[in-house]
Amino acid sequence: MFFGKKINLVGLDIGSKSIKAGEVLETKTGRSLRKFGMIDIAPGVIEDGAIKDADAASQAIKELFKSNGIKDQNVAISVGGYSVIVKKINVQKMTEAELQETINFEAEQYIPFDINDVNLDFQILGENEHNSNQMNVLLVAAKKDMIAEYIDLINRAGLNPCLIDVDAFALQNNYEFNYHPEDESVALIDIGASKTSLNILKGADSVFMRDVSLGCSQVNQKIVALIDCSPEEAEQIKQSEHSESIAAEDLRGIVSSVVADWCAEIRRALDFFYSTDPDDNIKHIVLSGGGANIAEFRQLLAVETSTEVDIIDPFQAFEIDDGQFDASYLKQIAPQAAICLGLALRKVDDK
Ligand SMILES: Nc1ncnc2c1ncn2[C@@H]1O[C@H](COP(=O)(O)OP(=O)(O)OP(=O)(O)O)[C@@H](O)[C@H]1O
Ligand SMILES: [Mg+2]
Repeated sequence: MFFGKKINLVGLDIGSKSIKAGEVLETKTGRSLRKFGMIDIAPGVIEDGAIKDADAASQAIKELFKSNGIKDQNVAISVGGYSVIVKKINVQKMTEAELQETINFEAEQYIPFDINDVNLDFQILGENEHNSNQMNVLLVAAKKDMIAEYIDLINRAGLNPCLIDVDAFALQNNYEFNYHPEDESVALIDIGASKTSLNILKGADSVFMRDVSLGCSQVNQKIVALIDCSPEEAEQIKQSEHSESIAAEDLRGIVSSVVADWCAEIRRALDFFYSTDPDDNIKHIVLSGGGANIAEFRQLLAVETSTEVDIIDPFQAFEIDDGQFDASYLKQIAPQAAICLGLALRKVDDK
């Protein structure tokens, strides 16, 4: 029916602070940004990747599509956080069909959940470099109930979920499109409101991936705990230059302790990666998500990891109509758009 043409998808990144939607069109000269928008959702509607209030979330998605004139109903979404596990494993060499048969058995030892409770997917990466009888396989496991919740949410919003990706892969997709990485190892880190995903790339291959439950809302929680305000007020206080409600010194202290926490966690993940691959050297960290905007975090991370730290420009390689998009707005929200645009670059039969 589509004459082998890949169906275009709207990228839909469902965050706990804001939902982002983007549409990209393939042109003769590249990819052009057709639509992009974001909508904030109330604290508590989505927490650490789990949908707590599907009504409110689906309303927000409907509103987002309407206010940005997005009519296409086929969407690509991504999941991340604690309920998603991505691991590189070694198995005996076999065909894809054979692995399909035995993947549950192979995967069981690597998954901290009951194997019957997860959806499994895999990709054969090639022969193992240390043992020619074995092959490397990228294993992805996501909790079934969480996937079902997301599909239900998309359906409630009147949309058609065509592709379910992993946050870290969507981020990688955006990065590769914009930066054409060569052999150098790069760590991509997305710090959102409630989850952080880390993906180490060697050239175009993802060699290590970890999601942790850290994010910018930790700052909000500490503000709430200190001055007993609502989560909405805490967000406002955090984003404002001056606030009557909290001493500037206290706010600085909160931000410092949270970003120190993030840096420690990132260092742990990098150390773990180095323990498995001591010869590698990550020279460059590329940040995305709202947390990338925190200057103190970027500075501390650069010092603690002796690495160059930059913010991603997820729009860099897109053709963008200046008349349609406000360049200063895109610049302001750029780090938060990375995953969404990585999803918008997907086609329906992408793996
Ligand atoms: N300039 C800034 N300074 C401090 N925090 C910021 C800044 N800009 C954005 N943030 C924070 O970033 C967070 C939103 O980032 P993002 O849109 O990446 O999160 P999300 O995708 O909704 O969340 P998640 O993916 O974790 O569910 C909010 O907590 C917001 O307060
Ligand atoms: Mg996010």
